[in-house]
Amino acid sequence: MTSRAVHIINEKITLPHRVEILRYEIRELVPLAKQLEKKGEKIYYLNIGDPLKYDFETPPHIIKALYNVAVNGYNYYSYSQGLSELREAIVEKEKRVNNVELSPEDIVITAGVSEGINFIMASLVDKETEVLIPSPTYPLYKNFIAFYGGTPKYYRLIERDGRWCIDLESLEENITEKTVAIVIINPNNPTGMVIPKEDIEEIGRIAEEHGLLIISDEIYDRIVYDSTFYSTASLIKDVPIIGLNGFSKTYLVTGWRIGYMYFCNFDSNRLRDAVLKLARNRLCTATPFQKALADTINIDDSHISEMITKLRKRRDYTLKLIEEVEDITCSIPEGAFYLFPKIETEGEWKDDKEFSRKLLLEEKVLIVAGSGFYMHDKKHVRIVFLPPEEYLQEAFERLFRFIRNHKSKIA
Ligand SMILES: Cc1ncc(COP(=O)(O)O)c(C=O)c1O
Repeated sequence: MTSRAVHIINEKITLPHRVEILRYEIRELVPLAKQLEKKGEKIYYLNIGDPLKYDFETPPHIIKALYNVAVNGYNYYSYSQGLSELREAIVEKEKRVNNVELSPEDIVITAGVSEGINFIMASLVDKETEVLIPSPTYPLYKNFIAFYGGTPKYYRLIERDGRWCIDLESLEENITEKTVAIVIINPNNPTGMVIPKEDIEEIGRIAEEHGLLIISDEIYDRIVYDSTFYSTASLIKDVPIIGLNGFSKTYLVTGWRIGYMYFCNFDSNRLRDAVLKLARNRLCTATPFQKALADTINIDDSHISEMITKLRKRRDYTLKLIEEVEDITCSIPEGAFYLFPKIETEGEWKDDKEFSRKLLLEEKVLIVAGSGFYMHDKKHVRIVFLPPEEYLQEAFERLFRFIRNHKSKIA
């Protein structure tokens, strides 16, 4: 029996619309996968971009540093903007790796890039605000723009000659009086697109012409296979840029939750100070993790080249598997660790979501529907290529069998 108080409270609480609209499809089918696992099924997880879930490990010297800093007393609340040691190490890393000149004051440490996206949209977006984001996009951009009452406007990523690229016309067409910022994700999740230098420069020109800020998510900056990555702030000097980056993927510490944002080419600290207000309200990010990264990120990066070698092999392996099947095609991901293939055939599924759900139920393979990334068609799915080849081989065999068994039979 529910008590009177519980009943009254249930009546009083109407969940706000802003919460109802938050969707994170990457994890949406996980409860179903867990149910199947409980029944004894083996699930092939190809949904989450976490290398540590497979055979990648945090470099031992980073773990050791964590132990040492905890022993040495780095266990207190740190400054809300982030430990100065880490911000100084980031200045060095950004100069060394991305040719971006920063000062520690330009940087705010966040609980992953995820918190950075929230802080930026909280500071930037009001009811009338429009922000341009790619379609497909990493879902948090859409979610937080809408959460704060603004409007996400999409520009398209398209497939041309087997590669993903930005449809620059659709970007410019979607700019209105209310647009304040363009978000670029480079390398992109979910497509693996790496934006060429000329396109970044063109986006800079467009932003300059229309008076827009550029938000550049570079969390995969060092996970690039066969093209060159250019950091936006290394190329564009006359447009304000907020750079977003973090350690989850490249330093193999997804669970540590440490990222950063930096402000470049601003002539005032208004926006940074708004972000700092939010940062103070959550006190700080975990101090020992910050200090361990400060002590290691510029010392030994050898794990990154090992990771790229392993990932390149897995990418090429999966692309080759897909090449042999005509019902599915895939543009080459030039960075990150995702494939974003297109299901070319019609079948016993009404869209990408139903496709993914049925695939999980029948073949026990968990992937993510492209519409979870606000893709403009319902024919793409995202698959991580992080696991070892044997695992990928089994998962892809199951995927192909599912398509074969359920595709439309043309008489
Ligand atoms: C493009 C992009 N941005 C941000 C994030 C969030 O990363 P984190 O919060 O771990 O730094 C991810 C995670 O997958 C991502 O793919």
